[in-house]
Amino acid sequence: MDKDFLRSTAIEMVQKGKGILAADESNPTCAKRFESIGVESTELNRNKYRDMLLTTPDIEKYISGVILFDETLRQSTIKDQILYSDFLKKLGILVGIKVDKGAKVLASHNREKVTEGLDNLRERLDDYYILGARFAKWRAVITIGEGIPTETCMHVNAHALARYAALCQEANIVPIVEPEVLMDGSHSIDLCYDISYKAFSKVFEELNKQNVYLEGIVLKPNMIVSGTNCSEQASIEEVAERTIECLKATVPEDVPGCAFLSGGQSNQDATMHLNMLNLKYSSELPWNLTFSYGRALQSSALNKWLGKDDNINDAQLEFYKRAKLNSLASQGIYSETMEV
Ligand code: 13P
Repeated sequence: MDKDFLRSTAIEMVQKGKGILAADESNPTCAKRFESIGVESTELNRNKYRDMLLTTPDIEKYISGVILFDETLRQSTIKDQILYSDFLKKLGILVGIKVDKGAKVLASHNREKVTEGLDNLRERLDDYYILGARFAKWRAVITIGEGIPTETCMHVNAHALARYAALCQEANIVPIVEPEVLMDGSHSIDLCYDISYKAFSKVFEELNKQNVYLEGIVLKPNMIVSGTNCSEQASIEEVAERTIECLKATVPEDVPGCAFLSGGQSNQDATMHLNMLNLKYSSELPWNLTFSYGRALQSSALNKWLGKDDNINDAQLEFYKRAKLNSLASQGIYSETMEV
């Protein structure tokens, strides 16, 4: 393990003014997204869609890294047939790879999930490094509901995240450690705080036990928000305040940065929350706070694209706009008037 290399990669991922594009939807998730716009999820259509995103002109001004799915890492640009890993590298964008195999039902805990993918991970990481990947992602999901999450669910997910992270670092790949407490449900922001506090604490307990080098990871947490169906929705200010409170209580100073997931927030909410976090708190924090959004970066572009080549330019303009606005938000200099 080359600690300096890991640390400098992690710092590059969360550098000021840039963030990460999560474009690593598994094929079933991609099919769901395509279904919403009436496009069939074929290998070619997925290639065309990712091409639209990744060849957006000047995107490297705002994007430090892209998380790819295995299939995309092996695909090439449509026009010039350049492997995406080479194409991104030339732009100075780091290549990331989703290495988990998805969240599956946790045995004997039917309403909870555990993320799988540790089998052969050491060998797969070595291959991914050769293919150009310099960071990886593993997403654990924690659901809030009647009587859940259980301690068991939080423990097994944290344990797996730490095993994954240690294996990544051994291969000189920076692990994005993603414990996602889902927004789904009618729970209050207070409950989201309590569960996230426990989940993040557990994750760092396991990372420490398994000797993960904290300066060489990037944390990808959820923000502390009200459940989607909660009758009382917290304000932008409250989300920022509770999120900082939770991170300060759980995340060691050695971690170089946090890159939030959007988790189903609207595009604008995700941007406004990130902006408030940086505007109000960045000067007092040991870590950079940026974005690693999937839906909040892609959905407006997806809805413009509609699977048609004629729409590529308009779709790219949408993607460019969200990337730029989130870049501004990561510096606390976004304003709502920039949306129009
Ligand atoms: P969302 O921003 O759509 O939540 O996706 C981020 C991600 O990578 C989830 O693992």
